[in-house]
Amino acid sequence: MDKFIIEGGANLKGRIKIAGAKNGSLALMPATLLASGTYHLKNTPNLRDVWTMSRLMGELGAFCELNGNDLFIDTTKADKTIAPYEQVKKMRASFYVLGPLLARWGEAKVSLPGGCAWGPRPVDLHLKGMKKLGAEISVENGYVIAKAKSPNGKLKGGHIHLDVSSVGASGNILMAATLAEGITTITNAALEPEITALGRFLQDMGAKISGLGTSTIEIEGVDELHPADVTTIPDRIEAATYLIAAAMTGGHIELQNVNPYHLAAVIDKLEESGCELDINSDTISLKMDKSPKPTNVTTAIYPGFPTDVQAQWMSYMMLANGSSHVVDNIYYDRFKHAPELSRLGADVDVVDNAAIVTGGKALSGATVMSSDLRASASLVLAGLAAKGETEVLRIYHLDRGYEAMEEKLTKLGANIQRLKTELI
Ligand code: UD1
Repeated sequence: MDKFIIEGGANLKGRIKIAGAKNGSLALMPATLLASGTYHLKNTPNLRDVWTMSRLMGELGAFCELNGNDLFIDTTKADKTIAPYEQVKKMRASFYVLGPLLARWGEAKVSLPGGCAWGPRPVDLHLKGMKKLGAEISVENGYVIAKAKSPNGKLKGGHIHLDVSSVGASGNILMAATLAEGITTITNAALEPEITALGRFLQDMGAKISGLGTSTIEIEGVDELHPADVTTIPDRIEAATYLIAAAMTGGHIELQNVNPYHLAAVIDKLEESGCELDINSDTISLKMDKSPKPTNVTTAIYPGFPTDVQAQWMSYMMLANGSSHVVDNIYYDRFKHAPELSRLGADVDVVDNAAIVTGGKALSGATVMSSDLRASASLVLAGLAAKGETEVLRIYHLDRGYEAMEEKLTKLGANIQRLKTELI
């Protein structure tokens, strides 16, 4: 397993390009199962989760080729409807294939994704949605078996209210409803930009959708869709991670290929903490030359502060002179990084879904263990700001969601290197 060795203390300076959104690509890729043909997905991030989805698509008969950041998908021979445990267990987003398979073929057998490093992540809302669209659902041997009840194998439009505004359930139901007979309405639908981008892609494929970007999405089913090309939106979580990295190292950086509108909540908090930001249509510059002010965050659904930036913010607040509260209202148990951050000298107390970070003590390098994707990012950020050497173990978690992280950080002047398995 690869690890990072970081010599902390360098001020990050310079300019980097942000990749396409991981969570954007993971929704766009399964959507191509809805119509036979060839697709070009531009600005696709070249990272482990995309490779995992490509392998799963391969099991379903599709052909995926990632050339740099150009992903070519051919679904001409994609006629299989079983998503096996071996692929699904690696990544929860694999569950996105359920909606397209069921809508296109009238049946699907998809492994349940299982738990997550930081606690339970149910799929009940996905299943409730499919039932409302006229599917019979059973769970056998760890697999969800879904079948359209209608004799013609078609799903039927319906009204689905999501108790929780789930990103994954909204995307799955949206894809399934495009080929259902009649009209589907999703209320309390996710507002996240990756879901809006998915909806736009489906529109380009011929779907009839209104209300994208609002909490009520209406879909009028069509008989068939056709292939389309798409450019993946920028990764707002990757962007937020590098902005915080610069803020933590007294840095001055510019990010290119970003959508500042998608980052409003993070930008607001960075400004509140004392950073100077300069924002243009697709670039953001950040300059920081002092300790941050203690700044509380509470995660919320979009456009609130993202749960995927909670760990990085906790790391940042270790440098503030005073106490800050970091509350996660999306995932109550998502605090695996707290004890690891403590190894670098942080004072973090977690009670229920809230962490109190008492910052201001000098951080010193240590060996730390990654537990999940964003927790790993928080450890790298802490290592960049700490005095001395930090070893971040098990960075395969990072590779799931950050394209060439050590190359980007090196370009910004960080002292970071990857040690390959055989060298450890
Ligand atoms: C997506 C993102 C993930 C992000 C999360 C929240 C992808 C591939 N992943 O995950 O990076 O952290 O949104 O922004 O886009 N819930 C239920 N029942 C369900 C589904 C969800 O109760 O059937 C709950 C979850 O436990 C959680 C909340 O809804 O408390 C939000 O989860 P959800 O938006 O579904 O997250 P994902 O789509 O899995």
